[in-house]
Amino acid sequence: MNAYFDSHCHLNDEALYPKRKEIVEEALKNGVRTLLVVGYDVPSSLKAVEIAREFEGCYAAIGFQPENLSDAKDEDLDLFRELAKEKKVLAIGEIGLDYHWFKEAKDRLNQKRWFIKQIELANELDLPVSIHAREALGDALEILKEHPLNRKGVLHCYSGSFETMKEMAKLGMYFGFDGPITFKNAVEPKKCVAACPMDRLLVETDSPYLSPVPYRGKENHPSNIPLIVKAMAELRGEEENEVAENLRKNFASLFRVEP
Ligand code: NI
Repeated sequence: MNAYFDSHCHLNDEALYPKRKEIVEEALKNGVRTLLVVGYDVPSSLKAVEIAREFEGCYAAIGFQPENLSDAKDEDLDLFRELAKEKKVLAIGEIGLDYHWFKEAKDRLNQKRWFIKQIELANELDLPVSIHAREALGDALEILKEHPLNRKGVLHCYSGSFETMKEMAKLGMYFGFDGPITFKNAVEPKKCVAACPMDRLLVETDSPYLSPVPYRGKENHPSNIPLIVKAMAELRGEEENEVAENLRKNFASLFRVEP
């Protein structure tokens, strides 16, 4: 069996947290041994760290997602600094920009400020980042050019164009793909998976969201990773084993942990 990982999941989400033990076991049965649990505010970041302490194969990312900035304070960055002392904290994330839900200039400006602050935090801590960029890849690209990442990062659930992917790849970024690459209508994501440089490709579930076919619309779990890897291999016209092996190498080189 291939050894898989999930580079972006939310066992810290209230839908999954109460049954996290079963979910970790179910993932292991499918060969998914390593899970990066990603925070999106202070409580979820604390939970991610707690889960990382609880399960051998679980690791944490900590940060403010752009939809959750209403209570964000500068002191919270000190808490993240403290948490990042733990070895199992592998990244700052998810951080970034979300213009889908936020249309007002003042909100978008605030998102940019926090994105930059957290890029600087990642650089200070020598950690990579996990980026959430929704309908905002142009501005995200500009910010990343002006504020280069020391340890690079991943554009989680990449949903941009092939052109932007090439620009981001020049900056050393990785690209995380999820369930939507199995959807019939996902033309651009499929094209991006097929054309993504092999050394920049990552796989994730974003569970509990974005279940792949045939579970579309149901609660997603990290155990679904092999379905996404299979779809990747088909789209790229490569052997599944080879894709899985390269994905492992990419995870290890970005997050400095052997999955
Ligand atoms: Ni997420």
